[in-house]
Amino acid sequence: MTTASLESRIEEYFAAGATAVGNADALDAFLELRDALEAGTLRSAEPDAAAPTGWRVNAWVKRGILLGFRIGALNGGALSFIDKATYPARSFTPEDGVRIVPGGSSVRSGAYVARGVVMMPPAYINVGAYVDEGTMVDSHALVGSCAQIGRRVHLSAAAQIGGVLEPVNASPVIIEDDVLVGGNTGVYEGTIVRRGAVLAAGTILTRGTPVYDVVQRLILKATAEMPLIIPEGAVVVPGSRAVPAGYGRQMNLSVYTPLIVKYRDEKTDLSTTLEELLR
Ligand SMILES: CC(C)(COP(=O)(O)OP(=O)(O)OC[C@H]1O[C@@H](n2cnc3c(N)ncnc32)[C@H](O)[C@@H]1OP(=O)(O)O)[C@@H](O)C(=O)NCCC(=O)NCCS
Repeated sequence: MTTASLESRIEEYFAAGATAVGNADALDAFLELRDALEAGTLRSAEPDAAAPTGWRVNAWVKRGILLGFRIGALNGGALSFIDKATYPARSFTPEDGVRIVPGGSSVRSGAYVARGVVMMPPAYINVGAYVDEGTMVDSHALVGSCAQIGRRVHLSAAAQIGGVLEPVNASPVIIEDDVLVGGNTGVYEGTIVRRGAVLAAGTILTRGTPVYDVVQRLILKATAEMPLIIPEGAVVVPGSRAVPAGYGRQMNLSVYTPLIVKYRDEKTDLSTTLEELLR
């Protein structure tokens, strides 16, 4: 089955609305899409040199993912964990007096996770996400729906990569190769972080967040057509700036403002060296 014919089947069943529920052919088309997403052969967004951001959103793929939600009934399922044989999970009994709340890492169907990816618990990778080779997804990290994560990216503890399914033509968050996303960061609303950039711990980026590049003396912002784009190799740290007018100024208030303090250098490489032994 070609991609074009899968696309037209998905479009047909998506347009069919509630009548697709219970239709075996609609389920077949969705499962074919889900398999292709998991194999990494189809993506919700992909590099495209001709696109203004360098990335193209495949809206029909996102419609296919939404179709899967519409036609899926609720269902139970088994958990499965894989780790080094030298570090099996400990077993506890009620006599130990320890309370362990269930939960942990999970990768949802329809997400692509390349070989060599390491996930520390608890972490979650949602449908339509693409996580490329050698990437580390640390504890409490979230890879939201359709987010695209490149090779050798480090998503540090509690990094939140926002998801976007709807509107279907909305660009997902894209983290390109070799980016370090520091602890407790949040990257949302279609923001693109170019190759090799570093987001220091605690940085938050959204469509509405202006980023001050003190090296190039520029203010980076999303526009109606373009998302916020962090340039290649930028080192972004959380900062603040004074409110310039009105009551905010009178009261000496300031607002959160991420700053590009430098572009990656040898010192940054040293600061971001990963623990290879963990892999
Ligand atoms: C950004 C980071 C990688 C440092 O990069 P670096 O290239 O070594 O940065 P430098 O030390 O040269 O600092 C450059 C400037 O940014 C400032 N800066 C660096 N890190 C900062 C931070 N996290 N917050 C605010 N300012 C910061 C420095 O004070 C310095 O400013 P100055 O030139 O006015 O003194 C590091 O601060 C960081 O956040 N690492 C991620 C840590 C993390 O989340 N680990 C999780 C592992 S699970």
